[in-house]
Amino acid sequence: MRVFRSVKDLGNLDAALKEAFEIKADRFKYQELGRNKTALLIFFNNSLRTRLSTQKAAMNLGMNVIVLDVNQGAWKLETERGVVMDGDKSEHLLEAIPVMASYCDIIGVRSFATFESRENDYNEKILEQFIQYSGKPVFFMESATVHPLQSFADLITIEEYKECDRPKVVLTWAPHPKALPQAVPNSFAEWMNAANVDFVVTHPEGYELDPQFVGNARVEYDQMKAFEGADFIYAKNWSCPGVTCPEDYGKVLSKDMSWTVGKRQMAVTNNAHFMHCLPVRRNMIVTDDVIESPRSLVIPEAANREISATVVLKRMLEALK
Ligand code: CP
Repeated sequence: MRVFRSVKDLGNLDAALKEAFEIKADRFKYQELGRNKTALLIFFNNSLRTRLSTQKAAMNLGMNVIVLDVNQGAWKLETERGVVMDGDKSEHLLEAIPVMASYCDIIGVRSFATFESRENDYNEKILEQFIQYSGKPVFFMESATVHPLQSFADLITIEEYKECDRPKVVLTWAPHPKALPQAVPNSFAEWMNAANVDFVVTHPEGYELDPQFVGNARVEYDQMKAFEGADFIYAKNWSCPGVTCPEDYGKVLSKDMSWTVGKRQMAVTNNAHFMHCLPVRRNMIVTDDVIESPRSLVIPEAANREISATVVLKRMLEALK
């Protein structure tokens, strides 16, 4: 595997899940695979889970790890070609990428949507340059539009906790004070479409996800109806994806607190498990009692980030041979 951004990059999903559970049972089984190989993890944005779980995954495989916080100590990077660099940006991404690549074997990059241009964000302007100019395998650690390591961990968690063959999984929008990217809901929708689940998305009008991700999911604008009989509730805020109204891209269209996931909504589910990728704003996205309930999976879900990252790095190391 040379690039990891989509569920399609894993090939057979059942085989990938089997590999994940094999690694979970013995996470050091492949510790010789990464000997004398280096993973470079580049962060343009903050992280707790991705940073720690991906480092741990690389160490499970015997790799060396370098972490670079671009905005703390590195030169400010220009990303546009043709710019007269007379401002505060000292280095161009076009030199920085091959230089960084020369110190490693595999590169992970986190670079969020900027909301300056839907076209640039949805064309993955930064990540595509890493793929094109690094000459190394590149995995997405949350890009402008996708967060595949999270969705793989989410799927592993659903597989572990499901109580029927084909559970009902509901992705629900919930309110947040700031504009957030669509990467997590985009990927979650993409991965749930590929999984053996009954998948429903619910959000206020105007928050329609891009068709390339939402696929054949059922969209229900009434949150209570969507929650009926659900086995898993996956809550997440996202800003306007600009599908029906491109000029609204990246805007907060609603802060409707009636969408906060609480006891009222959970009462109509099939005693559903609650999921969120974290970090989460309590009593905006979800009430204290729901996130603290025995049905909340937010901690095992985060723990499975180590497993999803170990599978992805393992497959990239195998492709280096
Ligand atoms: N869920 C997730 O990606 O967390 P971090 O932003 O802390 O890495």
